[in-house]
Amino acid sequence: MGDNEKSHFNAIAGKYHETAKSWETLYVQTRQLLNPIVTGKRVADVGNGGVFVFDPGLTKKTTCLDIAESMLAQIQDDRVEKIVTDARSMDGIADESVDAIVFNFSLHHINGSNVRESLQTLEDVISASNRKLVRGGKLIIGEPVFNRLMFTLQSLLFPVTKLILATFGVSMIYQFSQTVILEKLARCLLCRPESVMVHELEIRNSFDPLGGSFPGTIKIPGWFYPGRFLVFIATKPEAD
Ligand SMILES: C[S@@+](CC[C@H](N)C(=O)[O-])C[C@H]1O[C@@H](n2cnc3c(N)ncnc32)[C@H](O)[C@@H]1O
Repeated sequence: MGDNEKSHFNAIAGKYHETAKSWETLYVQTRQLLNPIVTGKRVADVGNGGVFVFDPGLTKKTTCLDIAESMLAQIQDDRVEKIVTDARSMDGIADESVDAIVFNFSLHHINGSNVRESLQTLEDVISASNRKLVRGGKLIIGEPVFNRLMFTLQSLLFPVTKLILATFGVSMIYQFSQTVILEKLARCLLCRPESVMVHELEIRNSFDPLGGSFPGTIKIPGWFYPGRFLVFIATKPEAD
């Protein structure tokens, strides 16, 4: 599990940062939300890829986890601890040792070999986060999401998409819907779906929608994008 993601992201690490600049206005909005939450806290950023959606200088400790060592090598900040590990296990992070866990633009790259396994993988990743978070800790997910129709269509096309991407040596991408993410957070973090804060980011400029898969291939105007960018902020309950 994860071998394809690892080799894909190790291969694109150099190009990724240039293309990620087209998402800067999204990152700016996310930093505004996250900086107050991470201040003075122990934070794990999973799938960091060398891009911060919060200021690591504000935290008590920042640990960046990534499956691809070349993506972690892009981080220039000496204050940051780096661990090469898979989000499904988060090995290297002690249980109940972090106050906040961040996943930004990474969950749609962490999949199984079909729809059922991909939904199970999302549960595995949130369950691993639940183990690593202290009670009252925050799980923060920044993701592009599809509406119900696009999500269903994408699910039907899963095998074909996977095959086409594999032809180019690119790992699978599978975007979730808001409902699916809320449902999995409720099930695996044991929080109430209505307690999860959901913020929609404004797409203010043209951007590269394929930057995590085919960096630098195209740029589209924001209004043409068939999804929405959401930031979910969930809290691990204080008591069982
Ligand atoms: C599209 S990049 C996002 C980077 C950054 N968080 C951002 O917002 O631009 C996805 C990142 O997730 C990492 N990744 C993919 N699969 C992973 C896994 N199973 N475990 C941990 N990291 C993973 C990739 O190596 C890559 O750095």
